[in-house]
Order: sequence, then structure tokens, then C-alpha cells
Amino acid sequence: MNRYYVLTLFPEMILNGLGTSITGRAIEKGTIGLEAINIRDYAGNKHGKVDDYPYGGGAGMVMQAEPVYQAWKAVTERIGRKPRTVYVTPQGSVFHQAMAEEFAKEEDLIFLCGHYEGVDERVLEEIVTDYVSIGDYVLTGGELPAMVMIDAISRMVPGVLSNETSAEFESFQDGLLEYPQYSRPEEWRGKKVPPILLSGHHANVEKWRLEQSILRTRERRPDLYEAYLRKQTP
Ligand code: ADE
Repeated sequence: MNRYYVLTLFPEMILNGLGTSITGRAIEKGTIGLEAINIRDYAGNKHGKVDDYPYGGGAGMVMQAEPVYQAWKAVTERIGRKPRTVYVTPQGSVFHQAMAEEFAKEEDLIFLCGHYEGVDERVLEEIVTDYVSIGDYVLTGGELPAMVMIDAISRMVPGVLSNETSAEFESFQDGLLEYPQYSRPEEWRGKKVPPILLSGHHANVEKWRLEQSILRTRERRPDLYEAYLRKQTP
């Protein structure tokens, strides 16, 4: 069981986004746990104000340290431990499949979603263990990145995908992209399904799929292909 605690100003965004489809079913079944904690509930003032102007000037507002710290402390005190705390930020290391697999081993994970121009550095120093980005582009807030990471992590948790083996053979396993897939009809707009897939010869099908994975990776992701080659011939 993996439990995710998301510290955010937009809890409904997290609950709606992950409450649907496969992650939603996993939450219902209790295979994963998800809580969204509204940082505003820890504002400590009746206006629910959690941001202020940046010292030194500049555009935008900064999320203040104390509400974030109180929200984090409420979680850690309730669960009786201090789990890894991920700050989602474009300044982090870029998220990838091996990271998803590593995080999937953690029982509890806290995600901190920033907004405005950032979060007061002092609370980050106090609570954050991992700075993680989902890619080299800037979003309006950390909620979508947190959802992206929680989705990728959750599907590595046993029991989340209906067929437990189905996560094993997909894109990025072995560092290769997935082979092309076909379903009925056998011919669509004059395009036929590759005959080998209709042959019933399992070993040949597997061989063809691996070849296709390699070709596709070489064509679309030369960076992954180079890494794959290096792994094959040490
Ligand atoms: N917040 C804003 N942009 C982000 C990104 N690319 N990754 C993680 N958090 C972010």
C-alpha cells in the first residue's frame, strides 16, 4: 500500500484528477491511498492568506513558510513519521521511469505543490528531501506535475494494474519503446495487420516485437537507443 499526501492550494484538482480511471479504482480498492491537504487550512489567519511579496522585490508572490510547514507537520505528526517529501519544481531533477519505480517502494510520500512565484526557501530547506521536475517547461503550478508523478508511481504498485505483468513490457522497460499494436479488423482502409501476428507462432511474434521496439527506439528516441546499445555490449 502506498499513501500519497499532497500539500496544495487546490486539493479538488488532485482528488478529481486522480479519482478517475485506474488510479481512482486503486484508491477505491485501497491499493493506494490519496489525501489532498489544503495549505490554506493552515494559514493561521482568518483570511486564509498564505502568500506575500518577495523580499528584495520582483514580480509575483511567494508562498509563506509557516502555512506550508504547519500543513506538513500536521501530516507527519498524524502518521508518526517523516516520509520522503517531494517538492515539484522545474528546478528539480527530471522525473523518469526508474524514479517512479524507486518511489513506488516507499510506503508514504508527501508532495508539495508550489504556486505563485515560488515557496519561501527556508521551509523547503526544512522539509524537502527530493526536488523533482516533470520536464523542461514551466507550468502554472505543481498540481499537474504531482498528479503525473503519482500516476506513474501508482502503476508500479502491485495490484494497481489489472494484469500485474502488464507494466513489465511497456515503453521504457529495458529502455526500449513499445512495439506497435494492432486489433480487429484484420484489414482497415487497405492496411493489413502484419501477417506474423496472425501466425500463432509465439516465439516469432516475440522476436518481431523486439525488432520493432529496437527500430522504433532508434528512429524516435536516438538517445534511448544509444543507452540501450551501451547496455547490450558492456
Ligand atoms: N511546476 C511548474 N512547472 C513544473 C515542472 N515542469 N515540473 C515540476 N513542477 C513544476
